[in-house]
Amino acid sequence: VVMKEVFQTRTMEEELEKKLGVKDVHIVPGDSDEYSWVQKEMGRACVGLIKQKMSSKENIIAVTGGTSIAAVAEMLVPDSDLKETLFVPARGGLGEQVENQANTICATMARKAMGSYRLLHVPDQLSKESYESLINEPTVKEILQLIHSATMVIHGIGEAETMAKRRNSSEEMLKKIHEKKAVAEAFGYYFDQSGDIIHKVLTIGLQLEDLNDIPDIIAVAGGSSKADAIEAYMKQRPSQVLVTDEGAARAILT
Ligand code: F6P
Repeated sequence: VVMKEVFQTRTMEEELEKKLGVKDVHIVPGDSDEYSWVQKEMGRACVGLIKQKMSSKENIIAVTGGTSIAAVAEMLVPDSDLKETLFVPARGGLGEQVENQANTICATMARKAMGSYRLLHVPDQLSKESYESLINEPTVKEILQLIHSATMVIHGIGEAETMAKRRNSSEEMLKKIHEKKAVAEAFGYYFDQSGDIIHKVLTIGLQLEDLNDIPDIIAVAGGSSKADAIEAYMKQRPSQVLVTDEGAARAILT
């Protein structure tokens, strides 16, 4: 029975790789919408991949916020491969609660892996003026340089409306999401079903186009409710690796 399940998972992974145009898909059993341990299993699978992808040179890992990436942090354990790793947040404030913020997650990862970390202290709502002046601050510039030299990015993908609400976005913003039919969110960008950007949160750090220069990108997102979001995001911006669950995989494939 176990053998048969292994085969079925591999087949589903291959189908998903083809459908989404992603090089490498990893599916854990179950649906994280139903059971919280499934998200932890995605976290565990992601930790395994991080270790595999570590290079012998300097490793800088940039991470986003959210519960899925928090689960990755939770699963990290001290490891000689990870000891010299520097963890940084991918982008500045996006309106998440403290425990789900990229800064918090990145500090937890560093503590668990016995690596080091640098933080980005940026308010969630940035005006154009503050944005311009912030990026010219020497301390901010220094960390931005580190973020841009990330060797690996680990990020979440969310459902557009869920994310807009979770961030206490304005009525106007919620209306925009609705009118422009946004279905996915990642890195502070909102996407429609074709993967086109319909809105972007103004904050410093990695911009979507910067991802082209980063050697390893791992997306961690599961739960059948995220099926459309995962598919929409992956359409135009494939991360090379997707860690997901059976719930999302089945929903995308049917
Ligand atoms: O807000 C950070 C973020 O990574 C978003 O870009 C993404 O949509 C969301 O978190 C995913 O959160 P969760 O893993 O909790 O669904």
